[in-house]
Amino acid sequence: TESDDQLIIDAGQKQFGAITCVSCGMIYSADSLEDNVQHTQFHQRFLDSVKFVGWKKERVVAEFWDGKIILVLPDDPKYAVRKAEDVRQLADNELGFQQGSLSCPSQAKTYLFVNSDRMVVGCLIAEHIRQGFRVLDQQEPSKDMTKENFMEHHRAWCCSTVPQEAICGISRIWVFSLARRKGIATRLLDTVRNSFIFGSCLTKEEIAFSDPTPDGKLFATKYCET
Ligand code: ACO
Ligand code: ZN
Repeated sequence: TESDDQLIIDAGQKQFGAITCVSCGMIYSADSLEDNVQHTQFHQRFLDSVKFVGWKKERVVAEFWDGKIILVLPDDPKYAVRKAEDVRQLADNELGFQQGSLSCPSQAKTYLFVNSDRMVVGCLIAEHIRQGFRVLDQQEPSKDMTKENFMEHHRAWCCSTVPQEAICGISRIWVFSLARRKGIATRLLDTVRNSFIFGSCLTKEEIAFSDPTPDGKLFATKYCET
């Protein structure tokens, strides 16, 4: 009918008014009912996931004027492991990863950046690995490469295509959209290099990134060259 068509047209036009929620960072159209419902659902889940109430025993591995980095290990108390998992799920949703896809969850170390507002605004998951690829050029796969080889080749990298001995694999790195470009990812990685192996500092070459996104590549390229 005529009035139904009109409704649709109005809704379509109003979609142009996109706004960004200053708390959860979601970009949505305030005029769209569907968007509002989606935002309300995401908003609360996001705030619950990133809320950091403080723990009796926190493994603080770095402190800054605008926050601190806490390390969570697989055998830590349930509430700590749970928080690490909640934040990982947020990051995975944004990255489009399948949930529970850590290669070895019992070995993973999770680094959480908590800001002065008691929110977890950064998360890095590091795992022990034996080999990685550095990033500079992305070589074409050779003909005799198996599918598995090909996948492996394209999944793990950091800065050449020659496999390198790496010690620490970064399987996830995520910073809250409204807290980016403030050096949080850089500080998370610096802290991993200093604390991943007790008493020793890893070089940038001993670190490899897996499944990098465009953002991840830009960041890693910058981080590896500096
Ligand atoms: N575009 C261009 N350069 C960038 C970008 C970008 N999006 N992000 C970082 N850089 C470079 C810049 O040179 C930057 O320095 P500058 O701000 O002085 O110019 C430098 O890297 C350091 O950046 P940080 O501030 O330390 O990085 P940030 O805290 O913003 O986090 C991250 C970077 C983690 C990639 C963030 O953008 C993010 O969470 N993105 C969405 C999730 C994602 O894609 N994560 C990577 C997945 S790959 C993986 O998990 C293995
Ligand atoms: Zn919101």
